[in-house]
Parts: sequence; C-alpha cells; structure tokens
Amino acid sequence: MYTLPELSQEKSFESIAIMTSGGDAPGMNPAVRGVVRAALGLGINVYGIYRGYSGLIADDIHPLTSGSVSNIVQRGGTMLKSDRCLAFKDPEVRAAAAAILKRRNIGALVVIGGDGSLTGAHLLEQETGVAVIGLPGTIDNDIFGTDDTIGFDTAVNTALEAIDRIRDTATSHERHFLVEVMGRASGSIAINVGMAAGAEMILVPEQAFDVATISEELATSRRAGTGSSGIIVVAEGPEPGLTSRLAAQLKERGQDPRVCILGHIQRGGSPTGHDRVLATCMGAMAVRYLCAGYSDIMVGVKDGSIVDVPLEDVIRFRKGLEPSLLDLALQVHR
Ligand code: F6P
Repeated sequence: MYTLPELSQEKSFESIAIMTSGGDAPGMNPAVRGVVRAALGLGINVYGIYRGYSGLIADDIHPLTSGSVSNIVQRGGTMLKSDRCLAFKDPEVRAAAAAILKRRNIGALVVIGGDGSLTGAHLLEQETGVAVIGLPGTIDNDIFGTDDTIGFDTAVNTALEAIDRIRDTATSHERHFLVEVMGRASGSIAINVGMAAGAEMILVPEQAFDVATISEELATSRRAGTGSSGIIVVAEGPEPGLTSRLAAQLKERGQDPRVCILGHIQRGGSPTGHDRVLATCMGAMAVRYLCAGYSDIMVGVKDGSIVDVPLEDVIRFRKGLEPSLLDLALQVHR
C-alpha cells in the first residue's frame, strides 16, 4: 500500500489519451484501467492510442469506456499493444502528433513505458505544450526517480519460478547452470532473482567479473564437495546471449555448464498482486496529477509514497543498483 499526496483539482479536461510504449510489462493493463476509470469518474473522456507513438502518428486513436477495461486487470501484455517508434525521434513527427491530438480536443497524454518512451513524452511536452504524465512501465526497474516500476515484481517472480525448476534438474545431474535474465544495462532483475533463488553466483553489469576466477571457484567448490551443482544468475547486459559466450569460455577451462536464457518469458504472464496495486495507483494518480495542473512529470514511488518526478530528471539521471544491496547480494551469493 502507498501513501498518496493530497492534490486539489485545479484543471479540467474534455479528453485525455493513454498509450503503452516500448517493451511491454505485466501491469500495463491495470495501469490503463486505473487511468480510464479515474478519468471517467471525473467526467473526462479517455482515448486509447494503439501501438504507442506509431499509433499516435497514424491517428490510431479510439474512445475507451469503462467496459473497455473490464476483465483486463489480471491479463499480461497490454490491450493497447506496444511498439518502439524510431520515427518519434524526429521533431517534425512530434509536431504532427501534437496536431492530431489537438484536432481531437485531447488536452493531455499519459504514456506508460520505459526511458525511451518517457523521453518522447518529455520532448512532446516541451516542443508542443501538450500536457504529459509518464508512468514507469518496464520489467527492468531501471528508471531514475522511482523505487519500483510496473512489471518488475512479476518478472522477478516469473524468473524465480523457472529457476526453481532448473535447480531440480541441476541437482539431479550435478551440473551448473548459467541462467540469463533480462535487464540490459541493469542488474536489478538479476540481483533480486538471484537472492530469491539462493543462486550460487550473480553476475551483473555493475560489477566486473572474470571467467578465470569463476571457473576456479566452481572447481574449488566441486573438489571440496560443497558445490557439485548450482545456479549462476547472469544479467543479459547490452547484448543478449552473454551466457552462451560465458559457457564457451568456461568449457575451455574444463567446466561444463548448461545455459538457459529466460528471455521474453519474463515479460509475459498475469501481473502479481503487487504490480496490479502499483499500476492501479499510478494510473489513477496520473489523472489526479493532470487535474492538479501538473505536466511533464513521471509518477514514481519513493519509500512507500507516490511522488512526482520531473521527466527531465528521469531522462537525465541513471538509476544505479543500490550499492549496499549489491554488496550484500554479492557477499552472500559469490
Ligand atoms: O526494456 C525491457 C527489455 O525487456 C530489456 O530487458 C530487454 O533487453 C529488451 O526489453 C528486449 O526488448 P525487445 O526484444 O522487445 O526489443
């Protein structure tokens, strides 16, 4: 549960629009539902923009009713579809997008997505004056200004369930498994999954590692009889497939690990209760912030409270792993 800021209603909108953009994340549907139900409750019309910014520039925009968002709270993916739209990097395309919104009397836009999507929202606001509110929707939990992102908890639990199964076969065959989880430049999923799964090692982009030391550690624990099998959780880093490259290098040193790349499995599935509540609160708060006159902000969560974070900061600063958590995880799991 979250502490919510008290906001007074300063502004009213005839219509607002909502989109999901970038990599999808479980919880996007409850966030859409939160926006739609909160706005309709205030007498504001809501439009759904399909396929993110691609749908905006194609005018793929449709009215949403309360019934449109019935029975979606438990569904993974996003009912509005999603896309990564490179064309939106062009200011002329953004100006055309603003004109489409204006023609429809849509005064504000709620964007649910990761850093690329929130950058698009910020630029649109700055250049055209369309009011925007961002919601952090990504499994990576790598967005500055918020402790949590929509989809992260579900992704961690999905990966955890898979690893519990992998451990069964790893133990039977006395093998080590390199399990690759998502997270691009962020080890957030890897650290959390690794801790929860009791991984023998966690490898993240935030902490350098070398193959010779890993190989030596595996050999030592095998000789000592303390580690005939085990799980090494690896954050994918910028290029998926890191675990395959790592396994080849370990083989050259006499190890024989198996590889499991969890991949997009982590992005699917029914959102956890945690993500449903987070997404619903953030969605409804996006509407309250708009009506209180806010724009160009992201709705975040800090120490259990819903907060507003300037999109400029969200874009400018990088969220790193909490150093003390990283230390603790690596102490226990390496
Ligand atoms: O941004 C979320 C994310 O899931 C990353 O962790 C991953 O590397 C990436 O998306 C993959 O995205 P796609 O295959 O959709 O391009």
